[in-house]
Amino acid sequence: MTLSQTPVDDLAEGEARAELKMLAEKLNAASKAYYGDDAPTLSDAEYDTLWQRNLAIEARFPALKRDDSPSNLIGSAPQEKFEKITHAVPMLSLDNAFNDEDVADFVARIKRFLKIPEAEKVAFTAEPKIDGLSLSLRYENGTLVSAATRGDGAVGENVTLNARTIKDIPEILVGNDIPEIVEVRGEVYLGHKDFAELNARMEVEGKPTYVNPRNTAAGSLRQLDSKITASRPLKFFAYAWGEMSTMPSNSQMGMVEIFGRWGFQINPLMGLFDNVADLVAHYRKIEEQRADLGYDIDGVVYKVDDLVLQHRLGFVSRSPRWAIAHKFPAETAITKLLDIDIQVGRTGALSPVARLEPITVGGVVVSNATLHNEDYIKGIGSSGEPIREGRDLRPNDTVTIYRAGDVIPKILDVDISKRPAGSQPFEFPTKCPACGSHAVREINVKTGREDSSRRCTGGLICPAQAVEKLKHFVARNAFDIDGFGEKQAETFYNDGLIKTPADIFLMRARDEQSLKKLKDREGMGTLSAKNLLDAIDARRTIDLQRFIFALGIRHVGEGNAKILARTYQNVDTFINAMTQLGGGNSEVFAELVNVDGIGETAAHALAEFFSEPHNMNVVNVLLDEIEVQPAEQVANDTPVAGKTVVFTGALERMTRDEAKAMAERLGAKVAGSVSKKTDLLVAGPGAGSKLKKAKDLGVETTDEDGWFDLIGE
Ligand code: IVH
Repeated sequence: MTLSQTPVDDLAEGEARAELKMLAEKLNAASKAYYGDDAPTLSDAEYDTLWQRNLAIEARFPALKRDDSPSNLIGSAPQEKFEKITHAVPMLSLDNAFNDEDVADFVARIKRFLKIPEAEKVAFTAEPKIDGLSLSLRYENGTLVSAATRGDGAVGENVTLNARTIKDIPEILVGNDIPEIVEVRGEVYLGHKDFAELNARMEVEGKPTYVNPRNTAAGSLRQLDSKITASRPLKFFAYAWGEMSTMPSNSQMGMVEIFGRWGFQINPLMGLFDNVADLVAHYRKIEEQRADLGYDIDGVVYKVDDLVLQHRLGFVSRSPRWAIAHKFPAETAITKLLDIDIQVGRTGALSPVARLEPITVGGVVVSNATLHNEDYIKGIGSSGEPIREGRDLRPNDTVTIYRAGDVIPKILDVDISKRPAGSQPFEFPTKCPACGSHAVREINVKTGREDSSRRCTGGLICPAQAVEKLKHFVARNAFDIDGFGEKQAETFYNDGLIKTPADIFLMRARDEQSLKKLKDREGMGTLSAKNLLDAIDARRTIDLQRFIFALGIRHVGEGNAKILARTYQNVDTFINAMTQLGGGNSEVFAELVNVDGIGETAAHALAEFFSEPHNMNVVNVLLDEIEVQPAEQVANDTPVAGKTVVFTGALERMTRDEAKAMAERLGAKVAGSVSKKTDLLVAGPGAGSKLKKAKDLGVETTDEDGWFDLIGE
């Protein structure tokens, strides 16, 4: 299986469905191998990548979530760190009902199975389906001995130490009728208020925030350090059981009430009903209260109350025949799209955000919704939600928004009939709102399609990207200034001391003029200020490769920087060529693309960067302050110095990389394709079109042995 490279935001519904299926198969097989056969088939990192993608797709297409979705498991990838516990009785999942008819079918099915006449009554419990993660607690002689997550249902993880930190989980059961062995099962969850507080704390500490209470609860329970779990106010509702040495009741309701007496929290909304109409009425009542409960629920669970009947009904595959989860539909609301704002991310991507007239959906006041990208607003492309396909969004439109689970609200539909007269299509900016540089959509050379995001090209000056760019500029493989790391880049930027990389080299001169000296800053001092300025001076001479890399141009990593340095040799030639790249039609551009290793994508990114006057200003100021040394001197007195060489076909005495490095060392340029400019084609066995083209153009050709003869090795 190959993992799709398509960004989740760009997936069409059909693609998403197919991919979720593939991910479920792959992840479920991997967790079975891990738990059941004790032979992992995926590394933790591979598992995590697939797992995250599955979650992201489900967040975007909640309706496509599969019953066998791996995210139904425990909330994150199995990890070596916890011991495994084999459940004495497997932990099962529930079948779903999506409407009243499904519920009627469920009840009728049960009566048929038990051969109970339709008119006869069967009692069912109905209770909220808590959106958390299930946990099995084992008590021996009334004392908690272990706690296990569901895992794959057969084997879970031993999270006993963490479970002990949860207030709702009694260490010792209360009462004198406690069976010797008791396994109480239920849901660990996090309340809305606690979730919001925790996220606020994470934000203050500059840590990534959590997406929803369920993921947070899962992440918190699966902490190796139980002190962290203890700091998270997790809660627990008891609603089921595993192994019991004796049964204290013969009904579902009776069992849960007894759990309440033993010291567990049980859900107050659990009720007992004996017909479909009443079950569904209770469902509606719970649905109405959903927003005020203070914790997430995603449906109502109905269970046959009589345990003898439960036993007779048994299981179908992994769910009991005697229970069903009646799911809530995703919540929607109609409101007004006030405006479309464009935010610039740290990588320069322009993300549109809908500003909405505030409205309550699923108990939460919503005033923003994600708009993904430009095409989404236009109602075109695979990124649009299918229902809105062909309909664009404009400020002042009336829109339907929805929240499913806790995912970020989205726009589901637009009511064109309510569109004000004279309304104009939204014009997506082509200039970065943060810095005014032009913003472009790259063409993916593989697919030939435009990238879904428009990006700011003002890398060096854009305030939205500035801190990231500064960090990159001073990084170890770039300017590598001693004592000037990410932290300094961030504080100096925030304090207004530096805005662009060029400012770093102006710091000494400015400090001499300034009344607020560097040495007087908190945490500095005469010596450290001197050391810092000296360290900056020490980097006023830098080699071309590092200089190019430090600029932080998209698609120009260390590898490409090296190739560019070798190709252009010195900074003047380099800058000169880069400023002549133009829109992609120039000869300089064609030459650049033909340099082996540099693709069209990188060439376009370079062209964009150097055509942006803001960037050129910074580069020029920078170049006044520093000296860029020419690339590593390569031989100029060899038979191939200055020549453009192309290698093709199979090479037998050296690898392609070796061949390239050798040629470059000898002063040759290595190109990827044959053109009039090619001086020599080295063709191994199997050479095809390049050899033909070289012959057609009258380019000199030789074979591998001929190459070694030529260079005299
Ligand atoms: S009963 C044998 N009751 O839903 C059936 N499950 O989709 C055992 N859940 O794994 C489950 N609230 O994590 C039951 N009141 C409730 C529940 C509940 C949430 C979860 C549980 C289970 C999943 C099945």
